[in-house]
Amino acid sequence: MSEFEDLLDSYQRRINKKLEDLLPSDNSILSSAMRYSVLNGGKRLRPILVYMTGEIGSVSSGSLDILAGSIELIHCYSLIHDDLPSMDDDDLRRGSLTTHKKFDEATAILAGDALQPLAFELLCTLDSKDEDKIGIIRSLAAACGHFGMVGGQIKDIHSEDIKSVESLDEMHSQKTGRLIQASLETSGILSNLSKPEINALVEYGYKIGLAFQIQDDIIDIESPPSVSGKDQGSDEGQDKITYPSIVGILESKSKAQELAAEAKEKLLLLNKNTDNLSKLADYIVSRKT
Ligand code: IPE
Ligand code: IPE
Ligand code: MG
Ligand code: MG
Ligand code: MG
Repeated sequence: MSEFEDLLDSYQRRINKKLEDLLPSDNSILSSAMRYSVLNGGKRLRPILVYMTGEIGSVSSGSLDILAGSIELIHCYSLIHDDLPSMDDDDLRRGSLTTHKKFDEATAILAGDALQPLAFELLCTLDSKDEDKIGIIRSLAAACGHFGMVGGQIKDIHSEDIKSVESLDEMHSQKTGRLIQASLETSGILSNLSKPEINALVEYGYKIGLAFQIQDDIIDIESPPSVSGKDQGSDEGQDKITYPSIVGILESKSKAQELAAEAKEKLLLLNKNTDNLSKLADYIVSRKT
């Protein structure tokens, strides 16, 4: 493993341990479904963004863990609902059965429903100034709401209405980019970074968010389930409009590379050591899972 892969691995282990503690552990069906959906692997990209932003500023590690955990809970809720029969109708997630396949549809919906408020409840326990805490909660709430992730998901469901690359970018940046940007923004607030520094991170987040979803759409075509842990060809099966479906696979790959390079340029605005975030941009467009 390279030094960077070691770092990703150590952040993954750190967040996995924290998530174990944050989730309810009674033996109810609801708690079991919540734990199943969260503690089943995953790249933990959003927590890693929180930790890497924390490296640049000054923050207590306990608060960073709570923020990273809260954002991952929201991400996991979005995945449970994304896989439902009424959404993408997928059977495989992170190499295991999707939550509605493992349990049933009602349990999956409710597990997602319960993960979201748990995230916000945890954010209320952050050890930070009230003003910062409110800023963090507002940023995350906006990122997952009707102009954020959920707004992007409904555009994806009505993807036949997407007629241009611009509206595809808008859908991508809402459904995937906004939560990635919020990981950087909220961690920037918690880590006492300056407004211009946070703005630069949010601009970096916009670029890696788009790159991340383009790579996800490439993986849907190219990576078998044994590599991606997800159903292959799901997008085509659902007639989804994606970057590859509009501009082809080769142009999609070069667009993702271009966005990663632009993302890295945004980091220069910070004038700090952002090597890890820079390497993360490259990782996002080279990953196969
Ligand atoms: C998948 O997210 C859904 C998208 C937003 C593209 P990830 O690729 O981050 O999924 P995990 O968390 O690693 O399983
Ligand atoms: C999902 O996009 C974005 C979310 C907000 C969950 P996809 O539907 O492409 O994600 P995968 O491929 O199922 O992980
Ligand atoms: Mg989807
Ligand atoms: Mg999906
Ligand atoms: Mg996908």
